[in-house]
Amino acid sequence: MTHAEDAPGSSDLLVVANRLPFDLDADGEWHRSPGGLVTALEPTLRARGGAWVGWPGRPDADPDPFVEDGLTIRPVPISADEVAAYYEGFANATLWPLYHDVVARPHFERSWWEIYRRVNERFADAAADAAADGATVWVQDYQLQLVPRLLRERRPDLRIGFFLHIPFPPAELFAQLPWRRPVVDGLLGADVVGFQTAGGAENFRRVAARLTEASADDVPITVGGDPGHVTAPDGRTITIGAHPISVDAADLEAIARQDDTVERAQALRHELGDPRTVLLGVDRLDYTKGIDVRLQAYAEVLDDRRLDPAETVLIQVATPSRERVEHYAETRDAIELTVGRVNGEYGSVGHPVVHYVHQSTPREELVAFFRAADVMLVTPYRDGMNLVAKEYVASRPDGAGALVLSEFTGAADELGEGAFLVNPHDLDAVGDAIVTAATQDPADARRRMEHMHAHVLENDVERWAEGFLAALGVT
Ligand code: ADP
Ligand code: F6P
Repeated sequence: MTHAEDAPGSSDLLVVANRLPFDLDADGEWHRSPGGLVTALEPTLRARGGAWVGWPGRPDADPDPFVEDGLTIRPVPISADEVAAYYEGFANATLWPLYHDVVARPHFERSWWEIYRRVNERFADAAADAAADGATVWVQDYQLQLVPRLLRERRPDLRIGFFLHIPFPPAELFAQLPWRRPVVDGLLGADVVGFQTAGGAENFRRVAARLTEASADDVPITVGGDPGHVTAPDGRTITIGAHPISVDAADLEAIARQDDTVERAQALRHELGDPRTVLLGVDRLDYTKGIDVRLQAYAEVLDDRRLDPAETVLIQVATPSRERVEHYAETRDAIELTVGRVNGEYGSVGHPVVHYVHQSTPREELVAFFRAADVMLVTPYRDGMNLVAKEYVASRPDGAGALVLSEFTGAADELGEGAFLVNPHDLDAVGDAIVTAATQDPADARRRMEHMHAHVLENDVERWAEGFLAALGVT
């Protein structure tokens, strides 16, 4: 690891994201965060002497930049007050619920907006300092929507891309945002704006044409096909594309095939009492994920004995997330109350029907859970993609297992033929899908899973990153 201060403005390719690929702990030690985005982008960034600009994950921390094996890490400091207003406030209590179909009521706080703008300016300054002449900068997600324009103002020589990892809502919902115009202007500062789905891309194109003086074409936007275009009043043309993100499928498959993973999956089932059916949910504990609806639907199918409570268990792994945001704390309370009720009603001593874990789980253990599960439950009310659905499918090279999947996830656009698609607002439909998935004919199950598995193996996260970078002109 070397210090990077003596090499400003030298990176040809930069990623700018709210979080760095490393988190700083309380003792000042860096820990690698193993997300799919990091896995996908690190090799390309390292090979090009690239840089990652982001928050070190601790309020008030201001560590020096450093270079690790060819990758420059440029931390952007955020104070505790700013974390409260920019991250917990505007990003996660305004934009997050608004962009997820107003599942919860968004808070519109003027002071949060000011801080969101200030923090976005800081990210833009850091990227402008780090980028070489004519470099390519790829900005990530809803926390940084103003960065493309702010960066263009500072560095008109740069090629700028933006990718939104969460849904972009229909114009009728987006219009609620008091700061809708500067947000759209911020995004239109990019050369390429990418979305998880064709629907999200078309929503944004419509919003840009309605709320600004830009003009838009009307070609249908498709994945792997034509993008759309918006022409700004200054004559710049912005490409609007659909680029569904994916997972590091080959790596997950390799872990799933390891003997110790298979043995761990068998041991898990044994620890659970060798039930006939194991159902699984894996999520950040977030109110958009529909953990409540799956618990309720599960309770109903146990109640009417379509699944036998003595022969069925549900494992729900819920990672702690954004715990200082009010709605997250309320959601946790509600879920934990329901888990207690369902166990009280349908469990027995030594045999709970729900095993609930409010912890982050190591990747290898997660893959063992995936291999142990007969039915994976992915029931968000709205989700940009839902990587867990793809991780489950990648982890089933054995062709067994089944996926119950909300039709309101980006993943449903790709896995619709193999998954049991459900409307998460329809409790009966969720219950029916759980029972059908748990009791389907094995040959049918295998056909469905093999179809999904092949799709995810082919359309992995590396392909996603290459596709977006190619749209940006990086070859
Ligand atoms: P989101 O981006 O909204 O959190 P995704 O499903 O797209 O939802 O991605 C969640 C990521 O977090 C996945 O890579 C998943 O494996 C990981 N994850 C979710 N729950 C856990 C957990 N309990 N332990 C470890 N990783 C988890
Ligand atoms: O996918 C949406 C997203 O907010 C990412 O931007 C983020 O890395 C991930 O979920 C986890 O959220 P957070 O960074 O708020 O813990």
